[in-house]
Amino acid sequence: MGKVRVSLTVNGVVHQDEIEPRLLLVHYLRDVLGLTGTHVGCDTSQCGACTVHLDGRAVKSCTVLAASVDGSAVTTIEGLRPHGQLHPLQEAFWQEHGLQCGFCTPGMIMTGVGLLRDNPTASAEEIRDGLAGNLCRCTGYHNIVRAVQAVVWQMAHTTEMPATVPGDVIPPESLPGGILSSPTGAEIKVPGSKPR
Ligand code: FES
Ligand code: FES
Repeated sequence: MGKVRVSLTVNGVVHQDEIEPRLLLVHYLRDVLGLTGTHVGCDTSQCGACTVHLDGRAVKSCTVLAASVDGSAVTTIEGLRPHGQLHPLQEAFWQEHGLQCGFCTPGMIMTGVGLLRDNPTASAEEIRDGLAGNLCRCTGYHNIVRAVQAVVWQMAHTTEMPATVPGDVIPPESLPGGILSSPTGAEIKVPGSKPR
């Protein structure tokens, strides 16, 4: 089958490539663009390790043909923050020990950011429901939920709502500075803040 030309904006950069029509979005991201932060855990739409944002919505990229989303905007885990900074949810995963081997973590975080955008005041139960499509083979679900809860708490105590900015790519200057304490007692260092 002949190749098709696609144009996709990935993490704010326009890419134009000739690809096979059967190429899955996850393989386009990993194999064509080299964005290996998006993982492949099952290839059967069950684990959520491949979750990215497609035009602002969290999707499992192993279920999407790259050619079918020509012209769309994609955000991967690499594009959550510019200049190597961590998104507040990435910080919270670190602070709350929300990962073990880390294989599920990019997908968990991309789903979590979408969840927080849709429901910035999510309860623990709503967080568990929202993450139900993401599997952690290390079974570290408790701390993953705590990490998302920590950002809910953080957003409730700042004037900015960093996880809700459309497109998820947030200029560092828009972030509040400072170090916050979560309900669990762990410190959350907001990007742009000074160490204390
Ligand atoms: Fe896509 Fe598992 S690799 S859901
Ligand atoms: Fe290992 Fe989730 S931390 S799969």
